[in-house]
Amino acid sequence: MSTTAMRRILPVDMVERRRNPFDPPPGLRGEGAVRPLDLLNGARAWLVTGFEEARTVLSDARFSADKVRHRDATSRQPPKVEVAEREDGIFVFMDPPEHTRLRRLLMGQFTVRRMRELESRVREIAVEHIEAMKAAGTKADLVPAFALPLPSLVICELLGVDYADRAEFQERTAVGLSANSTPEELAVARAGLSAFMRRLVAGKRSNPADDLLSGLIHDAESPLTDAQLVDVALLLLNAGHETTANMLGLGTFALLEHPDQLVALRADPGLIDNAVEELLRFLSIIQLGVSRVSMEPVTLGGVDIPTGATVVIATPQVNRDPRHWPDPDALDLHRPRTPHLAFGHGVHQCLGQQLARIEMRIGLGELISRLPDLRLAVPAAQVPVRNEMLIFGVQSLPVTWS
Ligand code: HEM
Repeated sequence: MSTTAMRRILPVDMVERRRNPFDPPPGLRGEGAVRPLDLLNGARAWLVTGFEEARTVLSDARFSADKVRHRDATSRQPPKVEVAEREDGIFVFMDPPEHTRLRRLLMGQFTVRRMRELESRVREIAVEHIEAMKAAGTKADLVPAFALPLPSLVICELLGVDYADRAEFQERTAVGLSANSTPEELAVARAGLSAFMRRLVAGKRSNPADDLLSGLIHDAESPLTDAQLVDVALLLLNAGHETTANMLGLGTFALLEHPDQLVALRADPGLIDNAVEELLRFLSIIQLGVSRVSMEPVTLGGVDIPTGATVVIATPQVNRDPRHWPDPDALDLHRPRTPHLAFGHGVHQCLGQQLARIEMRIGLGELISRLPDLRLAVPAAQVPVRNEMLIFGVQSLPVTWS
């Protein structure tokens, strides 16, 4: 799910020109639950915008997540990576049984005890950052001040990054995620992060602690190689940082722009779990990042898809399917909870969803209770958004309070 990997294939006009930052881009709307789509890499893909059809793709073994092995047969370009060279531990791009083994090992580390401990750290980190914003004045850009550092520091906790190394970690991850970074800056940040993770893994081998990486090294029945451990650490960072940061930034923006909903949430803080689910559905920040390759001809939603075709899930539109939700374009925090696909579905369904929910519940909850008159510092139309990025969100969110 890395940003640049998808930039190569993203049909940019599909995601540009959102009429408003909270609705799916017009390119994802239109007739038919399944329809053909031309990608920038020359491939013909199929876009899935229906909820049931998307669930089928994500739970049907005829669709593979292994885009290296089952390369898109319709592409005119040579493969960028040979199968033998591909990453060892990026299991989001693997199929069972290869995927099953790595996922199980990881799930064994997302224990109830660890999540409970992380929950209190999430609160400390959130409060610390909000109080620092307040101490510094009456306005801030919420993205660097809160939305980016919170999930970055939570991943530090999860992986067991030393306090002394956290500034370096945060700096490198922020460069890697910024829409303004040049390709050279991105390459340097990426190489630096890989080196950082290699040092981290080596440190956990010789000096284990109570963290996920140490657990994978010292407790797991079938140990992972160092290369796999580095990949797993990078996958958790890629999957858990940009996503959560954008949900915090765009989620706050959406609440500020729906004052009736914000008033309801302030009046009843018990609504926060519902609010998190509804924001996940309503915002569906992964614009086009979830995709599969068909391993045989499949008829889906009445459309014939050939073998080897890329099938892209248009999550923002899938989560607005009018066959599934009444009045799907409304943000309604009182909406009865119905499963959505913001965390995907099937064997690859988000491994960090419990943690992501904790971060959003505590992050958004603390923000609105500690800053009771939080508001935008610029007109909404001037808030810069990340149209062309795989993961949608705000580039910055100038806010103020008194
Ligand atoms: C709001 C925040 C998040 C969203 C919207 C999100 C969304 C998703 C989605 C849609 C998938 C499925 C991808 C696919 O099927 O191809 C996924 C997978 C994954 N997510 Fe998340 N995620 C979030 C936060 C996190 C966090 C906090 C972590 C961990 C720290 C995490 C770790 C993972 C991992 C490891 C996978 C791969 C699972 C597998 O392949 O078995 N995610 N996520």
